[in-house]
Amino acid sequence: MRRLGILLSGRGSNFEAIAASIAEKRLDAEIAVVVSNRPEARGLERARELGLTAVCVPSKGVERQEYDRRVVEVLREHNVELVCLAGFMRLLSGYFIREFPMRILNIHPSLLPSFPGLDAQHQALDYGVKVSGCTVHFVDENLDSGPILIQAVAPVLDGDTADTLSARILKEEHRIYTEAIRLVLAGGWKLEGRRVTQPDLPPSRG
Ligand code: GAR
Repeated sequence: MRRLGILLSGRGSNFEAIAASIAEKRLDAEIAVVVSNRPEARGLERARELGLTAVCVPSKGVERQEYDRRVVEVLREHNVELVCLAGFMRLLSGYFIREFPMRILNIHPSLLPSFPGLDAQHQALDYGVKVSGCTVHFVDENLDSGPILIQAVAPVLDGDTADTLSARILKEEHRIYTEAIRLVLAGGWKLEGRRVTQPDLPPSRG
């Protein structure tokens, strides 16, 4: 299960971090295709520069189920085994999720279940939390829901703006997305309720 399909809507820095991990042999996988719903996405252009297959499936004016059918078709054409949402700003339909059961990951810039949805870093600042971070999780039909694979913490500092906090969190995002993909590809993980565990690993002795 090593063929990744990356879905993005914008800048694509998480995609680039995954591509770098593969290039530097820290992740044994290949990017089969990069798909964007927005033609102007920087990530799409970057994928082409890296010599990867990059496809735009425009979402404007397309009904959700029909849109997802088109994207699934592209992913199937490229024999994608694991779908990685990397700043893909759309909710997936049940149809899409059933096509790739426990085979879709997402990264979100908060410690879920706090601050799902848009502008998670703004939400964290507005709420006044002292730590935030990021989460990689399996995708289900609800927004930023689904069993959690990995989280990382980033402190919220006095004087932070959404930009400075986002940059601190983004650094952690780039690190844990690779880790999470590695964990899923390695297999041996188990789902107990909502908990993702790795029974093959000895429990750490804190
Ligand atoms: C990232 O911060 C990612 O966590 C967030 O969008 C940004 C995309 O950046 N995703 C979400 O908020 C999903 N709910 P990137 O295009 O540079 O990877």
